[in-house]
Amino acid sequence: MFGAQVINLFFIKQITRKDAVQGLYFQVRRIIIKIVNRFTTPKEDYMKKVFPMLIAVFLLSALILTACGGGGEQTTSQRPAVPAEYAGKTNPLGSDAAAAGKTIYEERCASCHGPNGAGDGPAAAGLDPKPAHLNEVVGTAGDDYLFWRIAEGGSMAPFNSSMPAQKGILTDEQIWQVVTYIKTFK
Ligand code: HEC
Repeated sequence: MFGAQVINLFFIKQITRKDAVQGLYFQVRRIIIKIVNRFTTPKEDYMKKVFPMLIAVFLLSALILTACGGGGEQTTSQRPAVPAEYAGKTNPLGSDAAAAGKTIYEERCASCHGPNGAGDGPAAAGLDPKPAHLNEVVGTAGDDYLFWRIAEGGSMAPFNSSMPAQKGILTDEQIWQVVTYIKTFK
């Protein structure tokens, strides 16, 4: 049936970037709706009734997936892999490093990323791509990812952004201080 195929396509597309729990929820819903329809609908009305329901499920799922995904590009699965040079790095500093990180952040990052990491610094308006919403990024990105991105900036593919590299300007310790600080963003 055409409707089911659309749903299937949608499902397959989503499962690659969303987690399996959402996929499972979706499958279970489909099965329940199929069963309900088998028992409540006379054969000739089957298509008439099942179609609007499938569309409703489709829209509902889209809504839920969008809500859970929190803005497409920010999901973990879509981030490029951390290069070997940085992969697996962990923050050697404790939470008290956030104070030093705040000072560095306000000097070197806030003009683009905004005082609270919401991507609303005064320089943000003129940039394309826009500065990341760090308050959302830090919830899902690993420490090694954050360290890498701050150290190397965004001049390389696939980012191609004006995000400046801090390597050579900030020491590793200072970068970790900034990582510690931006992790406090909500
Ligand atoms: C000139 C503006 C600018 C400044 C200054 C800047 N950034 Fe960025 N930053 C960007 C832009 C634009 C992006 C989005 C494109 C990209 O990922 O490169 C970004 C992306 C990032 C990312 C990656 C987010 C993601 O989802 O992949 C992190 C982490 C980050 N910035 C942290 C910082 C920190 C910490 C500082 C200060 C040391 C800083 N940035 C300074 C513009 C800036």
